[in-house]
Amino acid sequence: MADFDKEYHEETINSTVDWLRNAAPYIYLFRNKIFIVSISKRNFPPSTLSNLIQDLSFLCCIGVKIVIVFDPKDLFEKELKIRNQTITEINGHNIIDEITVECMKIASGIMRFNLEALFSTSVTDAPITLSDVKIVSGNFVNAKPRGIYRGVDLVKNGVVRKIDTKSIKTELEKNSIVLFSPIGYSATGETFLLDSEELATEIGISMSADKLIFITDTLDVSQYPISEINELSRDHLESNAGAIKTKFFVLNKLLKLSERACDKNVGRIHILPYEKDGEILIELFTRQGVGVMVARDQLRNIRPAGPQDINSILDLIKPIESSGTLTKRSRVDIERDIVNYYVLDHDSQIYGCACLNTYSEEKVSEISCLIVHSKYQNTGEGKRLLEFIIDKAKEQHVKNVFVLTTQAEHWFLEHGFVRDPTFTLPVDKMPNVSEGRNSLVLIKKL
Ligand SMILES: CC(C)(COP(=O)(O)OP(=O)(O)OC[C@H]1O[C@@H](n2cnc3c(N)ncnc32)[C@H](O)[C@@H]1OP(=O)(O)O)[C@@H](O)C(=O)NCCC(=O)NCCS
Repeated sequence: MADFDKEYHEETINSTVDWLRNAAPYIYLFRNKIFIVSISKRNFPPSTLSNLIQDLSFLCCIGVKIVIVFDPKDLFEKELKIRNQTITEINGHNIIDEITVECMKIASGIMRFNLEALFSTSVTDAPITLSDVKIVSGNFVNAKPRGIYRGVDLVKNGVVRKIDTKSIKTELEKNSIVLFSPIGYSATGETFLLDSEELATEIGISMSADKLIFITDTLDVSQYPISEINELSRDHLESNAGAIKTKFFVLNKLLKLSERACDKNVGRIHILPYEKDGEILIELFTRQGVGVMVARDQLRNIRPAGPQDINSILDLIKPIESSGTLTKRSRVDIERDIVNYYVLDHDSQIYGCACLNTYSEEKVSEISCLIVHSKYQNTGEGKRLLEFIIDKAKEQHVKNVFVLTTQAEHWFLEHGFVRDPTFTLPVDKMPNVSEGRNSLVLIKKL
């Protein structure tokens, strides 16, 4: 192999290994989870759409249950044009007549055939060939008229009345992808046009989906840099609703739907501009993502550690241990003490830990193994974790907490710890203090 090829080969191997390692926890987490994907975007380049379908097939292959709600905007507008049909709008609500419904039926039919063709693609390295995924659709949505708005009948403009979740789940269990167009049928046999994003939200709610993903053209990232809202918790969105909705008014509808979905038990809502190919994979398999994410729960959470966190704790300790900052701990040590550990959890990724060991006879607790991953340092997470651990110590009615440190003396001093020559370590701690490390003992009275 030529030198250049060899270098290129090695680089590819390294990046593949890195990618797989980073993606592994997500692959594990996503198995059997329900994702509702709403695709409502004009001018989606055919190659991007085809890649998106491959990406969705890949998700299906790793065990994700997928529902797609597709709004065939371009085809629908083309059909309206062919028939010289215009839609009248009353304060954001469209009046939908029979001809408009016909246009949507044609557009949805064509879209469905196109998608079926894409999902049937069978090129050698396409994921679809690995899984034999089937795409199904049907009369799963019961609709009712949106009704009369400000005295005007919106006619065939409808809203969701009921969703046949049982039948959808049956299809998902068979590893099928369930496809919806923005059409629903009433109990009287009439056809109604639905808002595709509202429909996706209602399906997400009815299925208690783990993720609701909006692929939208309402978000132009070049005009609206979204870094400050790329991760929002439901609570944060509520307490900052005014500012966020004024600044990002283009997202008002989707943020409102996101709030509704969170309140009704959908885990995460992702809003993706889909300006770049592969955005869905970047959003789902990387920490930083590319779009806006709204989460039902707090994203950064401190919680007691469990056996499933042992590997992550070992990964956090390893680099710091080898530099001599922390005492050596084996897997067995961590396993034995796991009930005393707490972890910083960011969306199921562990990025910090601390251990609280209480010596009840002396009424004193030791804080050890306090680590924040380097990527998250200097953002107040260490302070937050320390305060949390001190509160836990207080719950155990101890008089003091102490730490043994070689590198973080000033950090602890700044958080109210002091040197106290009169303080003696608990008897059970003495044999475990490593002489050569010459650690400083700092205490804090509670
Ligand atoms: C010590 C540690 C937990 C702090 O975490 P953190 O999330 O960066 O802390 P915070 O964001 O709350 O505080 C950051 C501040 O502390 C300062 N700081 C961080 N580590 C420090 C240290 N070892 N000594 C003195 N100051 C330190 C930073 O400079 C920053 O100061 P600033 O606010 O004036 O800019 C983290 O640096 C770490 O994991 N260190 C390695 C493990 C370790 O030494 N643990 C302690 C022994 S158990």
